[in-house]
Amino acid sequence: MALRSLVILLCVFAAAQPKILKQSSYAKEELEQYIANTRPELNLRYRLHYHVAPPVGWMNDPNGFSYYKGEYHLFYQFYPYDSVWGPMHWGHSSSPDLVNWKTLPTALLPDQEQCFSGSAIVDGDTMILMYTGHEITDKEPYYNETQFLAFSDDGVAFTKYAGNPVLPAAPNGSPDFRDPKVWKHGKHWYVVLGSKTDDNRGRVLLYRSFDLIEWEFLRVLGESTGDLGYMWECPDFFELGGKHVLLWSPQGMEPNGDRYKNLHQTGFIIGNFNYNNFEFVQETKFQELDYGHDFYASQTMEKDGKRYVVAWFNMWEVPHPEEVDGWAGAMTIIRELVLVGDRVLQKPLDKMISLRDESVINGQVDENQVIELGHTGEIIISGDLEKKIELLVEGRNGGGQALLRWDPEVGKVVVDRAGDVRQVEWSPIGSHSWRLFLDASSLELFCGEGEVVFSSRVYPDGEWNLTNLSPQTLNVEAYKLKRSVPL
Ligand SMILES: *[C@@H]1O[C@H](CO)[C@@H](O)[C@H](O)[C@H]1NC(C)=O
Ligand SMILES: *[C@@H]1O[C@H](CO)[C@@H](O)[C@H](O)[C@H]1NC(C)=O
Repeated sequence: MALRSLVILLCVFAAAQPKILKQSSYAKEELEQYIANTRPELNLRYRLHYHVAPPVGWMNDPNGFSYYKGEYHLFYQFYPYDSVWGPMHWGHSSSPDLVNWKTLPTALLPDQEQCFSGSAIVDGDTMILMYTGHEITDKEPYYNETQFLAFSDDGVAFTKYAGNPVLPAAPNGSPDFRDPKVWKHGKHWYVVLGSKTDDNRGRVLLYRSFDLIEWEFLRVLGESTGDLGYMWECPDFFELGGKHVLLWSPQGMEPNGDRYKNLHQTGFIIGNFNYNNFEFVQETKFQELDYGHDFYASQTMEKDGKRYVVAWFNMWEVPHPEEVDGWAGAMTIIRELVLVGDRVLQKPLDKMISLRDESVINGQVDENQVIELGHTGEIIISGDLEKKIELLVEGRNGGGQALLRWDPEVGKVVVDRAGDVRQVEWSPIGSHSWRLFLDASSLELFCGEGEVVFSSRVYPDGEWNLTNLSPQTLNVEAYKLKRSVPL
């Protein structure tokens, strides 16, 4: 049956099911009214100017990153009623260009199931969400995860499939079975799902389907041999530069020197994939995608041959200072992924240049000179890499600060957020400059061609000061940036 007629039939069928009552238009209207009433109460001091954030309440993983009927769509894990995690909804933003965003009505509301992470695909005129239904049960481990579908023919209003779940259990019965990422290849839909073995090693499962309803388990695409964590979340699998990349978020990796210092990681393995036997032959070890303090649960989408990535710009179980302001959580800026050798580069989009507003400086900045930015800034920095580079970013009135450092002795870039250090070796493959994006409570540092990227939340009091603490004069081009998301 064609999906479209299936959708119509199911909508009629679904109308009689008590199961979809909470997704009713009445419940949605009530929620949108709540959001509209609550927004004026937010404290705006840390509200971001060009990063997607929840209109009110809590946000975590990006979901359903896709392109439909002329617009990019970005959904996210959303709890509107408090600025801490709660029963999951799907919030929704859309954009013509991945830089300017608007807020759309909440796409999915929980019923018996909470609407955990998932992805979006487009089939003809229909947008389809595949997500994890997380249900509370009365037996250990007190939850059950299965895979659900929801449909839309306008990209705004979604109807849950009455035949949910379409994937009722992992092959080994693990209750941790989540975050479906769907794509199409040839005549089939494929999905990767995060799960674990019976002895608590993270793994990714691969399935395929003709109709998104009946799924065939193909194989375990990747699995921890012991040192890659107890659970693998948010898997993504895609072609990049003639290779295949498995990108995911392993939970429970042990810190090892400079590596894996966040509570949970996001990283990738590059290899070759064969659609005849579904074997993924790994060619590299696991590498982190981003080296900052706040980067998790990334998701990608492809458009016109380009692969874009976004991630949750936070981390689990750390303070979220904006929580007391009535909201918590954000998305990183969208980056393009490019494969060069055995590394995956992250590049800011060309379109980011359209956010440049007032120019702050274009020239030399001497030792100890201070540049006064706004609540936002884009700063391009170059200096002599034979010598140390050190920049202090801090609030004009104090508050959060970070030191950004190039240490030529060890060849490392260091982001020191009040003593909490992240660092990694950097060997430039092209450009030797840094590009730093500051927003009201965040920094994103892109080194060179995007070989090394740090994404960290920092909470300054007031606008930003940037001080050149290097023992050298630097060349600096800096701008304040315009707002591109709703307040
Ligand atoms: C989880 O839900 C599925 C679908 O409703 C059901 O088939 C399965 O038995 C449930 N598993 C557990 C452990 O409750
Ligand atoms: C930021 O720079 C301005 C101008 O140089 C200075 O007056 C102010 O004290 C600086 N703020 C901090 C926290 O150092």
